[in-house]
Amino acid sequence: MYAITIPEPGGPEVLAWAEVPDPVPAAGEVLVEVVASAVNRADLLQRQGFYDPPPGSSPYPGLECAGRIVALGPGVAGWAVGDEVCALLSGGGHAQRVAVPAGQLLPVPKGLSPIEAAALPEAVCTVWSNVFQVAHLRPGETLLVQGGASGIGTMAIQLGKAVGARVAVTAGSAAKLARCAELGADITIDYREQDFVAALREATDGAGADVILDIIGAKYLQRNVDALAVNGRLVIIGLQGGVKGEINLNTLLRKRAAVAATNLRGRPLGEKAAIVAAVREHVWPLVESGVVKPVIDRVLPMADAGAAHQVVEAGEQVGKVVLQA
Ligand SMILES: NC(=O)c1ccc[n+]([C@@H]2O[C@H](COP(=O)([O-])OP(=O)(O)OC[C@H]3O[C@@H](n4cnc5c(N)ncnc54)[C@H](OP(=O)(O)O)[C@@H]3O)[C@@H](O)[C@H]2O)c1
Repeated sequence: MYAITIPEPGGPEVLAWAEVPDPVPAAGEVLVEVVASAVNRADLLQRQGFYDPPPGSSPYPGLECAGRIVALGPGVAGWAVGDEVCALLSGGGHAQRVAVPAGQLLPVPKGLSPIEAAALPEAVCTVWSNVFQVAHLRPGETLLVQGGASGIGTMAIQLGKAVGARVAVTAGSAAKLARCAELGADITIDYREQDFVAALREATDGAGADVILDIIGAKYLQRNVDALAVNGRLVIIGLQGGVKGEINLNTLLRKRAAVAATNLRGRPLGEKAAIVAAVREHVWPLVESGVVKPVIDRVLPMADAGAAHQVVEAGEQVGKVVLQA
């Protein structure tokens, strides 16, 4: 088969669509013929040599895909050859075939094409596990989504609204904020023009955010804590603004607030399967009823993954860039 390979760390130009050995499904895995796979920021980090796949994972990039099951490994129940599926992966989605633990499969939602479904697993599982399972966002609360126009952000806006939260977002341009508002964001903050802490306070009568989903890390750490409401929960999932930060613990203590950080890719299989099962139960009905939609900026041929990386690296997209195999 062919896959996107990374012969050496570097810029988007190092990515090569090359012939590689076919994956063989192990016990508990299925083999999926890939129709499409979306690009995530983690793929860029892997290409640069900063984010190796977990041990035992495919060496090729691609954290999600959609396609059709073409073979079952030993001991797989509940799935059949020919099923249309999408999957959360720890790598290997940017290829013609990928072996997937059965617990990480989801059916392609009714009414969606595999190309649309390929844009869902990573964002939905990340948002669900952090905003709801870690931070326990409740109806009527305020959710601040840092980077509202990202793949993660566009999903967080929709899921936040679907449960009845008030959603605030940051983004770096008026055009991106307009797209966030179309997706349901109630409060839009241009982080290049405004101090997001002051803007959020003003929009919430001084209360701040009950939950913050953060992708910036160190650079925003103190300001995120400042933006939290009493009993607020900050969940850090990205470190685009650095890894080492300092916070005033007194601010945290007086607010009785919590800071958490998580990573999805490196979690044990059982934890991923539990997240995927919860997503199937709670989010798939919202997708099938059209309340929550994949947000796809553009679709490019998989062999042109380098062009897709250039788009994502430049921050040109809103939502996802999808690669078609
Ligand atoms: N921990 C996990 O399990 C997990 C899982 C998935 C993703 N992630 C992380 O989540 C983040 C988003 O991933 P993605 O694939 O959705 O990426 P993406 O679509 O490439 O989005 C990155 C976003 O960062 C925004 N941004 C950059 N600087 C910002 C700032 N100072 N303030 C607010 N927003 C800023 C950009 O928005 P503008 O253009 O508006 O600046 C852009 O929309 C990444 O950091 C990724 O590593 C973590």
